[in-house]
Amino acid sequence: MELHPVLSGLISELLPDILNSLKPSKVFILVDEHTEEHCLPVLTKVYSLRPKSPYLSDLSEDQIITFPAGELHKTLQTVSDVWSLLIEQKADRHALVINLGGGVVTDLGGYAAGCYKRGIRFLHIPTTVLGMVDAALGGKTGIDHAGIKNSVGLFRMPEVVLTDVQFLTTLPARELRSGMAEMYKHALIHDRAHWDELKLKPELTATLITKSQQVKLEIVKKDPYEQGIRAALNFGHSVGHAIESLLLETNAPLLHGEAIAVGMICEAYLSERLCGLAKEAVLDIEKTLLDVYGHTSLTGKQKENIVSLVANDKKNLRGTIRMSLLHEIGTPALSIQVKDTEINEAVERYLALG
Ligand SMILES: NC(=O)c1ccc[n+]([C@@H]2O[C@H](COP(=O)([O-])OP(=O)(O)OC[C@H]3O[C@@H](n4cnc5c(N)ncnc54)[C@H](O)[C@@H]3O)[C@@H](O)[C@H]2O)c1
Ligand SMILES: [Zn+2]
Repeated sequence: MELHPVLSGLISELLPDILNSLKPSKVFILVDEHTEEHCLPVLTKVYSLRPKSPYLSDLSEDQIITFPAGELHKTLQTVSDVWSLLIEQKADRHALVINLGGGVVTDLGGYAAGCYKRGIRFLHIPTTVLGMVDAALGGKTGIDHAGIKNSVGLFRMPEVVLTDVQFLTTLPARELRSGMAEMYKHALIHDRAHWDELKLKPELTATLITKSQQVKLEIVKKDPYEQGIRAALNFGHSVGHAIESLLLETNAPLLHGEAIAVGMICEAYLSERLCGLAKEAVLDIEKTLLDVYGHTSLTGKQKENIVSLVANDKKNLRGTIRMSLLHEIGTPALSIQVKDTEINEAVERYLALG
């Protein structure tokens, strides 16, 4: 599976050339209600200012497909609505879907386009930090089904991913910070210098985003179907996912990246216990992430549930839990067996930091 290109710059300069080269029969733009409000006007402007090609001269209402924002709508029902609209608008096999939004839009839009008429072309324009450095890259598409996140999906590459950081100006600060957790993760699993750089200047720049994208792309290129090194990208996610789902039903849910930050702190401790990560590296990770994300407290009951949630998610056929951890900052450790008691210790250690 050939990896897609990623182009960065002004969308007004990138998009016309792409459309001219892809020559779609018709373009559809998929947005959620927030990206319709904040990001679509940027594209509309590109269309209205640059009518220099047949592919940019007509953007009409019926080409815009909008669905309600949020993970709750990353469902088959939404996909079905998208398919119905494409059929109604007579989208043929040469049509193109532009997914303009965060990870929910790119995951769902890639899946909808990937199935429609056995697959029509699509491209991603991610509008969140998480989308730019993670969700839009690497060809995983999908939806949530029967209460299980990402349980139905396809590996399907976008034609291209276009990154324009101007979209981030309207992103709520909390979403921005949450998305940065994946950047910290990329640095920790791949690039010590990038980690030091992120630590020193946490304000987001296009250069830092590009660096983070390169980490994910390099890993996905080596292992597109997650049979080896791609699993390194799960660092922080075993414990992080458990905490994310645990707090989902409470009145103080965490955003994905915020939960992953807690997960990375716990898994840094496990890395010290099991993979020789130096104590000073653990302290460095704890301090850096606590400074950015603060500390989350858990009740006794919640703490008890973490281990069973991790086990549910991660236990393989032989009943062992395996995680992606770190040997050093910049060097991942894959498929490390972890015991229930060790997960408990890691959570205790995290709670003691509060
Ligand atoms: N395919 C993959 O490899 C992969 C990897 C990581 C995550 N994901 C998926 O990504 C999803 C999470 O992505 P996300 O964090 O981008 O969430 P999201 O798409 O829900 O976006 C977060 C919120 O920000 C709003 N928003 C988006 N861009 C905006 C902008 N520029 N201005 C104002 N508001 C804006 C959205 O409407 C939404 O309310 C999850 O479904 C996750 O499963 C996929
Ligand atoms: Zn993640």
